[in-house]
Amino acid sequence: MKIFAINGSPRKNMNTATLLEAALEGARTAGEKRPVETEIIHVYDHDHKGCVSCLECKRLGGANYGKCAIKDSLAPVLERLADADGIIFGSPIYFHGITGKLHSFLERLLFPNAAYDVDYSSLARKKMPTAFIYTMNVTKEQMIESDYQSGLGHMEFFIERIFSKPRIMHACNTYQVKNYSKYKIECFSEREKAIHRERQFPLDREKAFSIGASMVGTDA
Ligand SMILES: Cc1cc2nc3c(=O)[nH]c(=O)nc-3n(C[C@H](O)[C@H](O)[C@H](O)COP(=O)(O)O)c2cc1C
Repeated sequence: MKIFAINGSPRKNMNTATLLEAALEGARTAGEKRPVETEIIHVYDHDHKGCVSCLECKRLGGANYGKCAIKDSLAPVLERLADADGIIFGSPIYFHGITGKLHSFLERLLFPNAAYDVDYSSLARKKMPTAFIYTMNVTKEQMIESDYQSGLGHMEFFIERIFSKPRIMHACNTYQVKNYSKYKIECFSEREKAIHRERQFPLDREKAFSIGASMVGTDA
């Protein structure tokens, strides 16, 4: 079986990617009896657009019915994801939402798979387990107070419709840069973040690991 992680951060070695790698490690470990292959896809490696509303994926009898018709570097990725056994999405929070690049990626992945029938039924080749890992600067209390979850819930709703209800993880109060002394960052306390990183981030890694493990051997 194959589990994919989709990294919606431009950074390949920072918070989001680290947690996604932990989740994939969890999936591989859980698959001891039945080998699990894993792969991380960095959306910023692709020069893709979002949906361009060509509606080819809805054209009756069309060659691209149920598929995205745009032929770019994302096309083979979307094709491989159709046969995945699980997808773990990850994004830093940008302006209370997911990154624009990941949003565009999800438009291309989800819209062709959503039939315009009366039930908006799923055309996905497979129902598969999914997860969404978010990383952000704010504390958990600030995230709740600013109601980040309502906005993030919109894409989670469509992922559920197409594939399955995603397991959700919020990693808060992340360390944004490796050396705070080099930047003007007054709105966050580096000292508090350092403490949080030392105590909480290892727990976040464990949680991501468990989420990855939970995706193996379960149906959507
Ligand atoms: C353009 C931009 C916008 C951001 N907006 C928010 C925000 O609205 N709320 C928040 O908590 N963090 C925000 N952040 C911080 C990132 O979400 C946070 O540092 C994240 O953990 C970075 O993930 P990465 O290390 O995987 O790149 C923003 C960062 C950038 C660069």
